[in-house]
Amino acid sequence: MSKHNLLEGIDLSKLPKHVGIIMDGNGRWAKKRGLPRYEGHKEGLKALERILDFNLIIRIPYLTVYAFSRENWQRDKREIEELMSLAKHLINDKFSYFTQKGIRFLHLGETDMVDEEILKSIKELEEATKGGEIYTLCVAFNYSGRYEIVSAVKKMYEDVKQGFLSVESISEETLKKYLYHPDLPDIDLVIRTSGEQRISNFMLWRVAYSELYFTEVLWPDFKEEDFVRAIKEYQARERRFGKA
Ligand code: IPE
Ligand code: IPE
Ligand code: MG
Repeated sequence: MSKHNLLEGIDLSKLPKHVGIIMDGNGRWAKKRGLPRYEGHKEGLKALERILDFNLIIRIPYLTVYAFSRENWQRDKREIEELMSLAKHLINDKFSYFTQKGIRFLHLGETDMVDEEILKSIKELEEATKGGEIYTLCVAFNYSGRYEIVSAVKKMYEDVKQGFLSVESISEETLKKYLYHPDLPDIDLVIRTSGEQRISNFMLWRVAYSELYFTEVLWPDFKEEDFVRAIKEYQARERRFGKA
């Protein structure tokens, strides 16, 4: 089946504007095959590449993928090194892919603990793709939802102290301006693979009214068809935002 046929049955006028993906299950994918966890992460990167390609066709305007949480630093040193090397691959080897395809790349997360070389490459990639108009890819890397909010509160407090902001004027809109990329819209749909049904500190502020979609498929097995299934399910749901 061609990739374009996959769009059949999707209402392109009602696409979610922002989809978040918790790419989970790499370790279990490898374990099932008697392989080291690293092989699962490598295969997971291929799954990500499939979805990035497919999004050039379907064009969800904002795609945020959870690649590495701040909690993930608690894993074995070896696994962390391997994940960092895959991150380097994504950023460096796909540099021209992102620029040529018109994908704007954004990093969501903190810079502490991350290798200088990776940070430099991220900066360069963000700069080189800032005019990308096809879609925005946000990579949540060294990311924690609570930490993002704490760091927003700290920055806001500084502005209050300096007299740029009055406490009375602080609203949800104000706090949002201190998050990593304030222009990102709320997440409409969160997809989590591997059967786990939790948020794991992902985009806390922006998932307040997201639709949640869980699938048993392990991330390395995730295909265009699975993505389409999630979008169709999203389109069949009724979002109420608290209204009757
Ligand atoms: C997701 O897969 C990738 C990262 C968290 C970096 P896992 O590594 O969490 O895979 P499982 O959950 O152990 O199967
Ligand atoms: C969430 O997955 C983080 C990423 C996918 C990068 P985890 O595998 O780290 O989450 P938990 O530990 O199962 O909640
Ligand atoms: Mg996991």
